[in-house]
Amino acid sequence: MKKKITFLGIETSCDETAAAVIRENEAGTAEILSNIVSSQINEHKKFGGVVPELAARSHLENIEFIINKAMRESKITLKDLDGVAATAGPGLIVCLAVGLNIAKSIAAFSNKPFLGVNHLEGHALSPGLEKKLEFPYLLLLISGGHTQYLIVKDVNHYEQLGTTIDDALGEAFDKTAKMLDLGYPGGPAVEKFAKLGNKNYFKLPKPIINKAGCNLSFAGLKTAVLRETKKIGNEKKLKYNLAASFQNTINKILFKKTELAINEFKKKTEKKNIQLVVAGGVAANKTIRKNLIELSKKMNCKAIFPNPKFCGDNAAMIAWAGIKRFKKNLVDDIKISARSRWPLDSKAPYMKGPGLKL
Ligand SMILES: Nc1ncnc2c1ncn2[C@@H]1O[C@H](COP(=O)(O)OP(=O)(O)OP(=O)(O)O)[C@@H](O)[C@H]1O
Ligand SMILES: [Mg+2]
Repeated sequence: MKKKITFLGIETSCDETAAAVIRENEAGTAEILSNIVSSQINEHKKFGGVVPELAARSHLENIEFIINKAMRESKITLKDLDGVAATAGPGLIVCLAVGLNIAKSIAAFSNKPFLGVNHLEGHALSPGLEKKLEFPYLLLLISGGHTQYLIVKDVNHYEQLGTTIDDALGEAFDKTAKMLDLGYPGGPAVEKFAKLGNKNYFKLPKPIINKAGCNLSFAGLKTAVLRETKKIGNEKKLKYNLAASFQNTINKILFKKTELAINEFKKKTEKKNIQLVVAGGVAANKTIRKNLIELSKKMNCKAIFPNPKFCGDNAAMIAWAGIKRFKKNLVDDIKISARSRWPLDSKAPYMKGPGLKL
């Protein structure tokens, strides 16, 4: 019988301290032996965003406990592992260093291969934990720090079709929630209060909707929300209308840009059965799911979303990316260091900052 590969994964790139033990099963998906996520939401709530030094200290305080818990729940021992994977970037260096260093120590101590995983590859491959994915597929990555369309050609092979030229989508949700004083983290709060509002009440801009191909922009929308927020004061009903209108505008932008990305993907790959994979924290949003499922039906492709527990940051996706990379012999040297910026497609143009031509 073929040996099933088992990995310990560790994730500390932002404000979640996470460890998981994952085993590849015969169907080519994952058996989740354990998946522990400790969120620091309450520690950062009063600041309305993640404070890097606080996050790093909290990772340091919790990491050993979280890894021990993940190992205990998995009911296996270190010697049963085939390797150890940790997020090596992109993210906050002080936070990444915590998980990366402890993962290296565990790998060295137990004499196992070590893999430094790109957090974005973790998101990109995450739906594969539960569903078999077929390369190439189209990925819409919508998270707290990134918003991108990519062709996932294989493990480690990505072609970027478009990206945000300013804010990430999760960031736009978080800032909108902050402006409307709806709570933290912003994405789930906006989704919750949008249900109580009229989504057609405010007319908001859809920046670069008819230009710049698959690239996106949310800064102008955020400014428009700020302008309206100042006008409506503390009127609850109007706040809910604004949250609903913001979310509705996002859905219209995503519908149009994803349609474009699907057409681009078709042209570039000539693939018939297209899988549209949507991953990252914002993929947990139910209205976005519904919107993109509708688009996929219209475009004759299949929309695939990770289970909500694998949308936000978790170590299951890091262990899973570790397994996939290990199978391609992409093992790393223990000397690799953390990276704050690490695009999946290294050839993609940098799309931010002054002088940008669209
Ligand atoms: N239901 C939801 N609707 C909209 N946004 C959501 C929802 N749930 C979570 N989010 C957003 O998802 C983001 C967190 O996602 P994730 O953990 O993948 O981001 P990150 O790890 O901080 O960034 P990155 O993965 O780009 O490095 C936050 O901005 C959060 O507000
Ligand atoms: Mg993330």
